[in-house]
Amino acid sequence: MAATNGSLTAWAGPWGVSFAINLTPDKTTGIGEWSEENFIQMARTGKHQGQPNGRDILPPMPWFNMKDLTDADLKAMWAYLKSLPPVKNQVPLPILPLAAAAAAAPK
Ligand code: HEM
Repeated sequence: MAATNGSLTAWAGPWGVSFAINLTPDKTTGIGEWSEENFIQMARTGKHQGQPNGRDILPPMPWFNMKDLTDADLKAMWAYLKSLPPVKNQVPLPILPLAAAAAAAPK
């Protein structure tokens, strides 16, 4: 079960609230500082930025549907994302379930 907003960028469910990442190559708010290897390992492992000790990527990001793609396919996706014009758009950090429940509770 999940609820989302009109632009499908914020998702609420048992994991709290997650926000779709800025996939443009902006250096401070997007993937401008990521390496191709970060992207490939993100898809293969489901860990944030593909870091071995990174947090688990939250739903509904379907990384497990990308994990069996070939390196060539993931590299092609990465090349496409890097070709986009950078957009400065700071996406909020995920909100954990208790914090989300407290924010939604009647005052
Ligand atoms: C080819 C399609 C997609 C690509 C290339 C893509 C790429 C990414 C990347 C690189 C991240 C950052 C993961 C990280 O923290 O390391 C991300 C996060 C996220 N994506 Fe996707 N995504 C795709 C499809 C989708 C779809 C279909 C949805 C929703 C139905 C979605 C929802 C999200 C959400 C909510 C996050 C934030 C997850 C978190 O904070 O842990 N993505 N995506």
